[in-house]
Amino acid sequence: MEEKLIGFNGKLSPVFIFDEVESTNDIAKIKAKEGALDRTVIIANSQTMGRGRMGRSFLSKQGGIYMSFILKPDVPAFDALKITAGAAVAVRRAVSRYAKDALIKWVNDIYINGRKCAGILAESVTDEDGKMCIILGIGVNLFGKREDFGEELSDIVTTIEENAAFLPPKNEFAFEIAKEVFDVYDSLDDFSLVIEEYKKYSLVLNKKVFLVSGDTKKEALALDIDNNGGLIVKQDGEVKTISTGEVSLRF
Ligand code: BTN
Repeated sequence: MEEKLIGFNGKLSPVFIFDEVESTNDIAKIKAKEGALDRTVIIANSQTMGRGRMGRSFLSKQGGIYMSFILKPDVPAFDALKITAGAAVAVRRAVSRYAKDALIKWVNDIYINGRKCAGILAESVTDEDGKMCIILGIGVNLFGKREDFGEELSDIVTTIEENAAFLPPKNEFAFEIAKEVFDVYDSLDDFSLVIEEYKKYSLVLNKKVFLVSGDTKKEALALDIDNNGGLIVKQDGEVKTISTGEVSLRF
């Protein structure tokens, strides 16, 4: 393990770099409970038990980037959904520097040409002083081919390398993501520009989507994104805002 102090957006972050871990989110949770500083970053080359949303696992081989941020926002009633949506904007910015056509599938997956190249898992813990910490986990398929992901996933995933002419070394890309995450994090109290950017690159807006809940899928029309990152949909003639669960699309 390597430990560094790196400046992002004018503020210092403790950065812990590991080769292989079970899950960077789990390490971040332990460190947060022990009182780690706001803006601490955990990075790993691979994970043996990477976790995704909805209780799924997240395949985390050597070619990818796996990182978790410990965030302790000062805004009064902060909302995990807002941070999650903001993180999607941040990751899309970093990805789009190398690969064209990176879009955000609500709430926080990054897609290129209909295939997922990055996912985000936001969790929370309370530290020893009773302060709520957001653990923001980001996994990016950077190097490699979709076939490396096995039969089950190779039809739905892609890597940045498959869509880019040039890529920087892994650590450099991870630092670019961190810079963008902190840029968005520092605009939490005036989030409207971030939400505008989120909408501009949304894969779902004005499209028919399926709202997935457990085993059921119900069709709806995605109308808008609210200022907290909630998805406004029309379903059976009724307009409502979705803030949990996920949506699927037919590509
Ligand atoms: C998803 O696509 O459902 C979310 C995937 C989130 C994966 C990242 S990788 C770093 C961090 N550690 C984990 O175990 N999960 C997140």
